Amino acid sequence: MKSHSFFPTYVYHQPLQRQGADKFNRELIRETVQIRDFDIEGQRWSKSNYRGGYTSYGSLDKLHQFSSTFMDLQGKIDRHVRTYANELEFDLEGRELIMTDCWVNVMPTQTVHSLHLHPNSTISGTYYVKTPKGCSNIKFEDPRLDRMMAAPPRKPDCRRENRQFIEIPAEAGKLVLFESWLRHEVAANPSRSERISISFNYNWF
Ligand code: NI
Repeated sequence: MKSHSFFPTYVYHQPLQRQGADKFNRELIRETVQIRDFDIEGQRWSKSNYRGGYTSYGSLDKLHQFSSTFMDLQGKIDRHVRTYANELEFDLEGRELIMTDCWVNVMPTQTVHSLHLHPNSTISGTYYVKTPKGCSNIKFEDPRLDRMMAAPPRKPDCRRENRQFIEIPAEAGKLVLFESWLRHEVAANPSRSERISISFNYNWF
């Protein structure tokens, strides 16, 4: 390579914990189902914003402040966020990255989460709790796409860092972190059973 690579986009993808993920996920699934069944306002919100599925994004988006299981999850994610922030070489000026929002997503067959970013946050991410075989992945878009006026497409077999879209597989027990300005989507879920994930935002205030 004769040229240098600048302005990288970092996406973090790691298991949440070394062991015990299955047991922890069973508890998270149990609570998520309880939250869904109890949250009438969220069910209504999801009808117009998350067709066919349920998300607590519009109603209960601070679950880490109300449930000890989600508090526990926050503690585990905090450690990864610190590692990720170190890799990004953030100068936090003595401040800390703090979880501001945390919500659940239950995605049945054919439910879609269209392209979006998380405004007003620093780091966002998702933890996968239940990922039936063949369920849809999270897909990230090259953040420079809207400036690429006469840029040719990339070769189909180009290196990963040159691709304009990247999919990270949704796998139960794994955590994905990204900078909140990075646009992403989840295509229609083709799997027959529900895919369950927990999403969150961090801010450095
Ligand atoms: Ni998102």
